[in-house]
Amino acid sequence: MRKILFTVALAAALVGCNNSGQVGSNSVSFDDVIKTRRSVRSYDATKTIGEAEVRELLLSAQEAPSWANQQPTKYYVAQSAAMIDSVKNYIGGNRRNVEGAPVLIVSTFERGKSGFFNGNPANELGDLWGAYDNGLANAYLVLKARAMGFDTLIMGMRDADALRRLFGIPESETITAVISLGYRSGEPRQPQHKNLDDIVKFF
Ligand SMILES: Cc1cc2nc3c(=O)[nH]c(=O)nc-3n(C[C@H](O)[C@H](O)[C@H](O)COP(=O)(O)O)c2cc1C
Repeated sequence: MRKILFTVALAAALVGCNNSGQVGSNSVSFDDVIKTRRSVRSYDATKTIGEAEVRELLLSAQEAPSWANQQPTKYYVAQSAAMIDSVKNYIGGNRRNVEGAPVLIVSTFERGKSGFFNGNPANELGDLWGAYDNGLANAYLVLKARAMGFDTLIMGMRDADALRRLFGIPESETITAVISLGYRSGEPRQPQHKNLDDIVKFF
């Protein structure tokens, strides 16, 4: 009996294991997600991503830590062809990078939340803590996207004023990035990341 149970458990483990490192299944390892996430600048226009999938993605972004749990990050999702076309007008040269991406997400953070106590900055960084929290949430977003088999490009080159008008984003929010979401077509560039010893000092 124990032998049968062991065999069943082993078979289940093997079915769950994904040796190819291909993501998009529940069994993908966190290291594979990290390693295969790249900034993707070429998308497969034949593939779509539905609202339910975007919601699942953003639920993960919401799990990110934030200053006093302020959760200052907001998202504005362009999923209709008309809105996507409009957003593309406001990302300059990035336009050609996101051709074919079925979703474009504008990320913002509410000012005066993270880094503030009773309306006053808690220290010298002030609203930079909002940007910090926003970056954390967006990091969760791009990693979850990869775990779901999607690809992303975070874009800081964008016209914030035009995007504010397009989505009706309140002045109380700072617009940070536009993030494309889609499926890669072809293999993305593999930019060199620094050696660990260039960025760390142990004491
Ligand atoms: C805050 C931020 C802004 C960025 N803005 C742009 C952008 O406007 N256009 C672009 O092509 N890439 C942009 N990138 C992507 C970076 O160039 C990319 O992350 C970097 O070269 C490392 O490549 P990798 O993401 O594939 O590891 C941005 C990334 C971040 C985090």
